[in-house]
Amino acid sequence: MVREILVWPHPTLKKKAVPVEKVDDSVRELVRDMFESMYAADGVGLAAPQVGVLLNVIVLDTTPRQPESKPVAMINPVITSLEGTTTYTEGCLSIPGEAEDVDRAAEVTVEYLDEQGKKQTLHADGLLAIAIQHETDHLKGTMFVDHISTLKREVIRKRMKRLKADRASEHESSASAP
Ligand code: NI
Repeated sequence: MVREILVWPHPTLKKKAVPVEKVDDSVRELVRDMFESMYAADGVGLAAPQVGVLLNVIVLDTTPRQPESKPVAMINPVITSLEGTTTYTEGCLSIPGEAEDVDRAAEVTVEYLDEQGKKQTLHADGLLAIAIQHETDHLKGTMFVDHISTLKREVIRKRMKRLKADRASEHESSASAP
């Protein structure tokens, strides 16, 4: 089921998510829904808080840009090492239409539980390394716009407020249409 993706600024997006205690069917359903929602929105990554669930769960699929990578769901991901530096123009499904340069580590090692609750370790570079850092940031209530200048962030905040107002009025007019 495709779930609604929250648009920043939103109080839930600022909150810290908590670890999953047991990888059960409800977590696997969340993972399935997150993949569906991410693909429906044409994204390469999605974190549970973006669909209003404050659990440490992220999904990633950078295969269009990195054919050697695989779609992956990470439960309770923890980055255990960061190496090198890179700058990438990032976007976010919770900040539609916006993109800004963000400095990140070039390579990451991440430990997580898979959908069977089994511990896994992944070393990533390229877009996948960036996406892992971006999505794990969401679990701490951090958005990519928290890494850019205040001036740029406030410009984007205004545009998002306008976008939300436009969406709300569109919803209203379609609701009142005969
Ligand atoms: Ni994001």
